[in-house]
Amino acid sequence: MKVLSKSEWTILTLILVYSFIPTFGGLFRVLEFVGGPAIAPDNPRASATPFPIVLHILSSFMFCLLGAIQFLPSIRRQHPAAHRAFGRIVAMAGCLSAGSGLWMTHFYSFPISLQGNLLYWARIILGFLMICFIVWSVIAVRFRNVFQHSAYMLRAYAIGQGASTQTFIGIGWMIFFETEMTGPLRDATMVFAWALNLLIAEVLIWAILAPKRQSVVRVLSENPSGVGQ
Ligand code: HEM
Repeated sequence: MKVLSKSEWTILTLILVYSFIPTFGGLFRVLEFVGGPAIAPDNPRASATPFPIVLHILSSFMFCLLGAIQFLPSIRRQHPAAHRAFGRIVAMAGCLSAGSGLWMTHFYSFPISLQGNLLYWARIILGFLMICFIVWSVIAVRFRNVFQHSAYMLRAYAIGQGASTQTFIGIGWMIFFETEMTGPLRDATMVFAWALNLLIAEVLIWAILAPKRQSVVRVLSENPSGVGQ
């Protein structure tokens, strides 16, 4: 049985490639804590307090990768039970990812070059929003509101995937300017990456997910009784 269409494989592959560095790259940090080689760049905050960052890396991994599968229409239609089961894991992983991110934002001791006021507040606000969006999405599906469910999950996913957009911009900057971005410019770029993701999410929500009012009106005006549908 063919589970995924060609375009769904393409979407899945693109998301996997896009999320590869923050998701799989993060696993090197976890490997380091269980006695593996130190491949990830030095992070004194992580070495001093490893538990939250390990929780963050593992939950973000699940959220980004399993979350990508959740958006594929074929899985939702052909395997609704799997969509529900994965959905529970993704929702929990998303809340843990944002919760541990919030914890680190507040309690890790960052030099100002890595987290100024702008980034601190952006992380606090977006971390809380990500949890609220996931909770709202779960409530919506309990009330059978599929549009609100998918829209709010996509918004939460866009916040989570901010990590990938930030990584891409950061790497682009390093290749172009041969130096790492720090200070207010880094803060502003991180916030820009989140804003960009949320903007793209809104475009997708209103272009693809929103119920097409005009086509409903057209169908009803062509066949007001709805007979034969
Ligand atoms: C869900 C997608 C996310 C992924 C894949 C991700 C990935 C990562 C990774 C791999 C690290 C470890 C960096 C290192 O080892 O030095 C990290 C750290 C961190 N993340 Fe996330 N993250 C995600 C979402 C978030 C969100 C939503 C927030 C904001 C609330 C956040 C805040 C943080 C903070 C504060 C750190 C510590 C950074 C440091 O110590 O330099 N992350 N993240």
